[in-house]
Formats: sequence, C-alpha cells, structure tokens
Amino acid sequence: MSDRVSFDEFDEMNYPRPDRTDFDVLVEKALSRRAFMRGAGAAAVVLGAATALPRSVRAASSVSRLAFKPVAANTLDTVTVPEGFSWRPLVRWGDPLWSYGKDFDPATRGDAASQAMAFGDNNDGMEIFHHNGRTIMAVNNEYVNRDIIYGANASKKPETADDVAKGKAGHGVSIFELTNAGDGWSVVKDSPFNRRITADTPMAITGPARGHDLMKTTADPKGESSLGTWNNCGAGRTPWGTFLACEENFNGYFSSSNPDLVQTAAQQRYGVGIKDWGYAWATADERFDISKHPNEPNRAGYVVEIDPANPQSMPKKRTALGRFKHENAEIAIAANGQVVVYLGDDERGEFIYKFVSAGRYAAGGDNGDLLDDGQLYVAKFSDGGRGQWVALTPAATGMASKAEIAINTRQAASAVGATTMDRPEWVAVNPHKAEAYCCLTNNKNRGQKPNAGGDATPVGGPNPREGNPYGQIVRWVPDGADHGADGFAWDLFAIAGNPTQHTDAFAGSSNITADNMFNSPDGLKFDTRGLLWIQTDGNYSDKDAFAGQGNNQMLVADPETGEIKRFFVGPKQCEVTGLTWSADRRTIFVGIQHPGEKGDSHFPEGGDSVPRSAIIAVWRNDGATMV
Ligand code: FEO
Ligand code: CA
Ligand code: CA
Ligand code: CA
Repeated sequence: MSDRVSFDEFDEMNYPRPDRTDFDVLVEKALSRRAFMRGAGAAAVVLGAATALPRSVRAASSVSRLAFKPVAANTLDTVTVPEGFSWRPLVRWGDPLWSYGKDFDPATRGDAASQAMAFGDNNDGMEIFHHNGRTIMAVNNEYVNRDIIYGANASKKPETADDVAKGKAGHGVSIFELTNAGDGWSVVKDSPFNRRITADTPMAITGPARGHDLMKTTADPKGESSLGTWNNCGAGRTPWGTFLACEENFNGYFSSSNPDLVQTAAQQRYGVGIKDWGYAWATADERFDISKHPNEPNRAGYVVEIDPANPQSMPKKRTALGRFKHENAEIAIAANGQVVVYLGDDERGEFIYKFVSAGRYAAGGDNGDLLDDGQLYVAKFSDGGRGQWVALTPAATGMASKAEIAINTRQAASAVGATTMDRPEWVAVNPHKAEAYCCLTNNKNRGQKPNAGGDATPVGGPNPREGNPYGQIVRWVPDGADHGADGFAWDLFAIAGNPTQHTDAFAGSSNITADNMFNSPDGLKFDTRGLLWIQTDGNYSDKDAFAGQGNNQMLVADPETGEIKRFFVGPKQCEVTGLTWSADRRTIFVGIQHPGEKGDSHFPEGGDSVPRSAIIAVWRNDGATMV
C-alpha cells in the first residue's frame, strides 16, 4: 500500500461515516472498480448504484481506452503531441479575418484598425458550429497580454487612445468560417460568417436584470442595452446552435478618476476598485470610470449568447444566469426537457451554480429565449458525499427581486450558505450518463482566509487541502440520473498533486502518478466517446512543489476507470485552454493562451519572433478519428 493518501483515506479523513453495509460490498463487487474508487465511501457507492452495471464491463477490461503513448512532461518552447500525431497553427493573434485586413506586423504589433479586422488575443473557450454545410468556429478572446501587444511602446503599456482601442478590439469573440479541401483546416477569409465582437459591440440586456435601476446609465437610461463583452473565458454551446461567451474578470477594466471614491460593499465583493489591471480603458472611454458611471460594472459579468450563423444578430447578455466571474456554461437537458446550465464562479471561495429554465427545449422549435426565464441555484456540498442545489429566490436570500439576485448573485449565494469552493473553473457533463465534473483549480486561501464576502473557507468536503496549490476535480451525479433534480451525490475524481515531492495529501489521489502529474486543472470537456479532456493553467516553474510537471498541458481521463494520461504539452509560459473538433472527429483544435506571458517564448514561429496566442490543429497521421 502506498503511503500516499488514497481516495479512501481522503474520504475517511473528511467524511466520517457509518461502517459499510453488506449492500455496499455487493455493489462494489459488481462494479469491479479500481482501488481508488472502492471504498470511496458513501459517495462512490451511490455513484456506483446510480450508474448501473454496464460500466463494469469496461472497467473490468484491461484494455485502456486511452490509445496513445503518453508524452513526458517538458519545458520546451513548442507543442508536444504523442508519437503518430501532428500539429500546426490554425490561427494566431493578429491574423486578419478579411483580405483587406493588414497582416500582423511584429514591429508595431498592429493598431486599433488592424486589430479590429483580426483574430483577438488570448483565445480561450471555443466551439464549432455547422450551418448549411458550412463550418463556423466561435472563440473567446479573453484578454490581451499587455507587455506583448504594447511591446513596441518603450513602456510596454497602452499610451494613446489608439492603444486602448487596440486593446479593446483584442478582446471579445472571434467568429470565422473554416474549410478543409483535403489538405487540412484553414480560415476562410472574407466569409460572410466572419465577425469580430469586441468591448464596443452593442449588446442587448435580457432576463430579470433588464431595466432594473442598477442597470441604468447615462448612455442607457432604460438599462436595456450595453456596449461590448470582455474577459470572455470559458464558453458553451446550446442545443439550438448558439455560442455562450462567459464574462470572467470583468472588474479589472474599471477604475475611478476620483482616488478617494469609497467602494460600495457590492463593488468590493466583485473586486471593482479604484485602479484597473493596467488596461487603461477609462483613459479613453469614460464609461469605465466608476466615479462617473457607478452602474456600469453591473452590466458586465454575465453569459452572452451569440448566434454564429447570423452575423447581424445582436448578442444577448442573459442575466438570468447570474453575475459573477463566469468560467464556462455547460448545458444538460433535464428529464422533463428543461434546460440545465452548470456555471462556475472562478474566484477563491466562490461558488458553483446551476440554472434551470422555466421553458422546455424542443428540438427544431423556438428555443431562442429559454435562457431568460428560470431558476438559479447554488451548490451546497455536505459531508458524506451528498449535496443539494439551493434555489436563489427572494424568500431564501432576503433580496427584493429576481433582478437583484441576477445582479448581486454572489451575495445571494452567501445568504443561503453555499459551499465556498477552490476556484470553480469549467464544468463538463458526460454525454453518456448523468454526471458532471468541475475543475477546482487551486486556492491558496483555503483554510486560511474567507472569501471576499466574509464566508469562511474551511478545509473539508470537496476542498480537502489547506492552501491547495494543485487543485482537484469534483464530480456529481444528480439524483434519479436527472440533471433537473435538487439533490446529488458527489466524490472527487482526481486530486492533483506531486507524488515525487510529497507523501501526504499533497501527493494527490492514487490515479495521479509521477508520469501523469499536473497542477491547476481548468479546461474540461468530454468527447463523443465519453473520455474527459483536462487542460491546465498552473505553475509552470517545474521546480520545488511543481518539479517534474513541466509546462501547462492537456491530459485525457477515462471516467470509468480513473486512468489519466498526458496527451499534450504546451509551449513555455502558456496556458492550454479551449478544445473543439471537426465534424469528422479527425482533427481536434486546442487553444494555446499567452505563450511567453513573462517574456520567455517565441511560440509558434520560433526564432526571435513575437509570441502569439494561437489555436492549433492536431490530427493522427493515420487519419483515424480522435475524439
Ligand atoms: Fe479565465 Fe478561470 O479562467
Ligand atoms: Ca479558465
Ligand atoms: Ca485558470
Ligand atoms: Ca487564462
């Protein structure tokens, strides 16, 4: 028995429970689960019972479903894929999407006009859509690498109004058509579907917050429309063919020209303050000055729904899905047809949410505004592997209206005692069975500091380690195999760690080894086969607590067996984020975000080139399907 902590030990440490019953033993025997799942206690037993026996066939098989030779961790300034696979860039920051756009100029690094015609910076969540035989990709451009995009300025900072406009145009969403005439995928310049959505694109505000006093500004006295979307991190796709761009760190763009302005409690909860994070938007666009436009930050932090097949359509900020630092938006359909959207709030000690639509999804019907009306819930995890979705209603939260809950969602969730989490990143729903997974990326404050609302962050439950530097992946199975249910069973699918540096809980769960270890899981997506892809956004120092983990990476896990294998290593100082694939499943597209964010990368062109965020295509040399 390894002296590293196992799932069993974690579970025992954190969730004392009655002795196992004969029924538990029978279920475990039937399932032939791996050691890490056997004994994972009440949660695993419930999972096993709820998930039925067909799994056991695959779980008992000795044949891995992860059919590739894993790649070793490394710190190279390139992409590493397994033997028998190849890759090449599809599109890079600054590549024009129209033939009248200017090619990327590494000397100037572009200006506002060229950036408005080009792929944005820091690509993140992405999805591919198929419309009348055309292939359309929609990609978030989360933020800009200021040292790089302003690298032609001596200060490496935005200095002029054009610099600010370039930065705003580097944000948002890029939408473009792809084609493959047999020699690989490429961007179709000048396609009628090509579109840039930036921090200045007109948006409709829809759902409960539309028209509320907190949404009204000088420019929009009705509180019904706003300009732009920014810091779009993870994404989502609806069954009716729209893209969901999720606004994450929206607060970092606001500042106050009055340095003595006292922040309101609501601004403090969301980190809206006197200084921005170096984007300088308020210097050229007054709406980002909170001393003059205090309600403007209330109009950001939402999930934005975009129709990629209709370039003239106005994006809609779906306020019913709540306002917080959204990660992705993962959709499931409840047994009765209601649309369920799982949502994480990526901040230390914030929460996991679920929206359930009032209306029901109808294939081929009018589903256009399903995300405007419904109930938002927040997750409460209990010891013993059980959990509950708590409805955020005026009665439960003490708030006056659904609109207020939609705007000050964090405060609503705190009011009902939701479980403070280790930074929820992407949620992924298994397409083959009723279960969902969420990356809890890391949390140095766990057990040490409350969240920004003063809620305690005790060690335990799905957040079992103090000062958590590595992260973990929590999994839940809704009661009755129905994502619409209020109750769920949960366990931890993987606890990241470093078994070469630790012998305690920080070594990780028993499915983490010296050969597959990683830190800070973030992107998470199931493929069509039910395999789970894990992308990381963590410490790439390759030293000390992170020794042997190398650059950020992408791994594949088999949820049936717990097996995890490293598929891919990114270049230096990047994050690997965003995954989608072609309809024939023979090419996957992977996002490389901020290579060289601290100055040490020349990805993807090498030499002494300017590093550029990029989407890369990966395929098998034998042309077989991959996902
Ligand atoms: Fe943009 Fe939480 O990652
Ligand atoms: Ca992320
Ligand atoms: Ca992250
Ligand atoms: Ca990032």
